Amino acid sequence: MTDLDFIHRFVPATSRDLPALLLLHGTGGDENDLIPLGSELLSGAALLSLRGKVLENGMPRFFRRLSEGVFDLDDLARRTEELARFIENARREYKLKEQLVAVGYSNGANLAASLILREPQHISGAILFRAMVPFSPEAVPDTGGMPVFLSAGQRDPIVPAANTKRLAALFQGGGAEVSIHWHRGGHELGQDDIDAAKAWLMGHFASAAQAVRR
Ligand code: MLT
Repeated sequence: MTDLDFIHRFVPATSRDLPALLLLHGTGGDENDLIPLGSELLSGAALLSLRGKVLENGMPRFFRRLSEGVFDLDDLARRTEELARFIENARREYKLKEQLVAVGYSNGANLAASLILREPQHISGAILFRAMVPFSPEAVPDTGGMPVFLSAGQRDPIVPAANTKRLAALFQGGGAEVSIHWHRGGHELGQDDIDAAKAWLMGHFASAAQAVRR
């Protein structure tokens, strides 16, 4: 057994040629939370779902925060690095050769955003629900044209629209191909978020679309 030092669940693929999904929950969630979402987004895909290691009043998170939206940046850097190493080890352990698409909600989306702004080479794309700018990078790494889907709430009290646009611009600065879906509500997810993410996934991971249509 390699060093897989996040509590996690791995669901093997039941269809071929699909990207695997890396699932990262929001504050207070765990490795079980996003499994149904992952199955709905891409039925038959392998799912790798993590539990954040930080506890805030008993609620799992992926990195420490000082207050709402104010992050412990040293901890964020360290946890992002841990995620990158975990992905490398999990690929070996589970013999994951397929592309990996990160799917994060809220705190999990913020960790995935941090990965894209530091070590984008570990993933092929990302679906980020209610993400915010996790930190201000001095330079944005080349993402190699990575497709990124942002789903933001027009009335989100935690993530203002301007912050979503800043995050999109940062990713675009690294050459990412960013799509934004605007949900009419707040921080919670709606069916429209899921439908839009599904359509985006089909459009950007063509072999996945073919496999599902077969
Ligand atoms: C965060 O702390 O990552 C964001 O404020 C989202 C949240 O988890 O509430």
